[in-house]
Amino acid sequence: MLPADFIESSPYKSNIFVGKVVFVTGGAGTICKDQTEALVRLGANGAIVGRKKEVTEKAAKELEALRPGARVLGLGEIDVRDIQSLKRAVDTTISELGRIDYVIAGAAGNFVTDINHMSANAFKTVIDIDLLGSFNTAKATFEALRASAGSLVFISATAHYHGSPFTAHVGAAKAGIDALMQALAVELGPLGIRVNCIAPGFIAATEGMDRLLPPDMQKTYTRLTPLQRFGTTLDIANATVWLFSEAASYVSGTVIVVDGAGWHSAQQT
Ligand code: HXC
Repeated sequence: MLPADFIESSPYKSNIFVGKVVFVTGGAGTICKDQTEALVRLGANGAIVGRKKEVTEKAAKELEALRPGARVLGLGEIDVRDIQSLKRAVDTTISELGRIDYVIAGAAGNFVTDINHMSANAFKTVIDIDLLGSFNTAKATFEALRASAGSLVFISATAHYHGSPFTAHVGAAKAGIDALMQALAVELGPLGIRVNCIAPGFIAATEGMDRLLPPDMQKTYTRLTPLQRFGTTLDIANATVWLFSEAASYVSGTVIVVDGAGWHSAQQT
């Protein structure tokens, strides 16, 4: 959940996304749910898709309750590795909400392990969820984005900017996502579709953080982050709002790193 005073403290007008629809993979996860919340509270309707039906439907209901009149679909049993299931989710979104303006390709998988204990299938699983899943999301939403001249945001990372151990699968997948983003920004720009990545650093109270950084190491990493704190889901939500807003209408083909300059200092450790 974002802070209760999100609207009052937001630098954006509370109606900037009225009439817009956002489609989010991994939308029940902590970061993507709060990205969706920001858009919904600023006027959008949305669809969040995920593998677990109950979790996705519960998250959608919670988001819908945040703004009178909001509509948020929770579409479960959708696996981003299966493009047919994604196409069904897109069809449902169009028939229920009429359009898709913004897409967040956020579904991700992660675990920490060295290469000696990483099977080929373990590597492939993360590549399939993160990289193939991002491609499938772009492919399944393409016609809808063409119709709305919309905008697509992939969720990347900083793990591949330097030799980040024990997450070779994630680093390889996220490097691929950055390359995919660049290619699509060039291909789809003439259609008016903007394509970008957000690369979060360590974001407090998220599943990714819990998986990557044991609690006893978290204090050390706070000190190593130049801005002296971990990120919040609000930081990522605000970057997302900016990227989808008119304020970023000439921004495409880039990675917005939201990490308090953390990866620069991580290189020195
Ligand atoms: C070694 C592991 C493992 C582990 C799974 N595997 N966990 N290997 N260490 N901790 C291996 C399995 O043994 C199997 O290989 C293969 O991976 C596939 O495992 P499954 O459980 O069958 O896959 P699946 O059910 O599809 O689950 C995918 C998952 C799971 C990625 C493994 O953790 C998941 O669903 N995660 C989704 C939620 C999540 O990860 N959220 C965090 C996102 S945060 P074998 O050879 O035995 O068949 C994030 C931040 C990135 O992504 C930041 C980057 C720095």
